[in-house]
Amino acid sequence: MIEARALKKRYSDGTVALNSVSFRLDKKISAIIGRNGAGKTTLMKILSTQMLPTSGTASIDGLDIISEADRIRKIAVSIPQEARPVDYMPAIDCVKLYLAARGFGRLKAKAAAEKALRTVGLGDAMDKLAYELSGGMKRKVFVAMAIASDADMIFLDEPTTGLDPFSRVEVWSAIRAIKGQVILTTHYMEEAQALSEDVLMIDSGKVLAHDAVERLLKPFNGLVRVESQRKSRSSYKVGNTWISYVKKGNAKAMVGRGDIIKPVTLDDLFIKRGVNLES
Ligand SMILES: Nc1ncnc2c1ncn2[C@@H]1O[C@H](COP(=O)(O)OP(=O)(O)OP(=O)(O)O)[C@@H](O)[C@H]1O
Ligand SMILES: [Mg+2]
Repeated sequence: MIEARALKKRYSDGTVALNSVSFRLDKKISAIIGRNGAGKTTLMKILSTQMLPTSGTASIDGLDIISEADRIRKIAVSIPQEARPVDYMPAIDCVKLYLAARGFGRLKAKAAAEKALRTVGLGDAMDKLAYELSGGMKRKVFVAMAIASDADMIFLDEPTTGLDPFSRVEVWSAIRAIKGQVILTTHYMEEAQALSEDVLMIDSGKVLAHDAVERLLKPFNGLVRVESQRKSRSSYKVGNTWISYVKKGNAKAMVGRGDIIKPVTLDDLFIKRGVNLES
């Protein structure tokens, strides 16, 4: 379980990336969503003890992220957004080395690494050197490290960015099979919906919403999203497009030529809550 109390992060150039966020994450899998620069990575780094907050605090399973950081590092693993495997090392060795560093014996590390690499679909590529892997395959090596680790708490910062749709579903299954608690960030709303029991939505360093996906989408029940090039009553402007929400049964009759009807997703929360989509 994670509890954050008034966490604030001000970088040395004055940027306030987190502006006093408080929340409790106690579900099996939680997703943190928000636009580029919202503060997701900053939050993940602070929670996984890689960076200190400017003020405020948080705890992981009752352990304080500042005074008990060493103990947290034993029970938590974190896959950073920018992580890249070592170029001249086979994928299997990258995972084995990581597990050895976490205290796995040689044989246990080998078995766990092979199993995890097969789970993420790298069964045939585990002996390739990391630089011979595609971008998505490199990402999967890190997901394999996380799922093989057996940690109680797993932080995944954009685990499926750059993955093809098939690989993404493969990684989703792997994430669901993780025994510990998982906190992930994503820009794919269908990923947040498919995986997580609750969603923490942040914007400009603040918590905008925190609830179960179905509860967040409740105001949209029975509605569809209509994208139009023309302004209509109570529509939201996104770029050159006007977005409105209309009753499912009425949509076909109401919309004009060229309008597009789409199902509502978590994206629509950002639009409806007036998050500045232009910046
Ligand atoms: N080292 C740093 N120094 C100064 N500002 C920083 C630093 N790291 C991040 N920031 C700023 O903090 C804010 C939040 O950045 P962060 O990386 O947490 O966003 P994010 O939600 O993870 O975005 P993305 O979806 O693009 O990964 C941004 O305004 C960013 O420019
Ligand atoms: Mg980020």
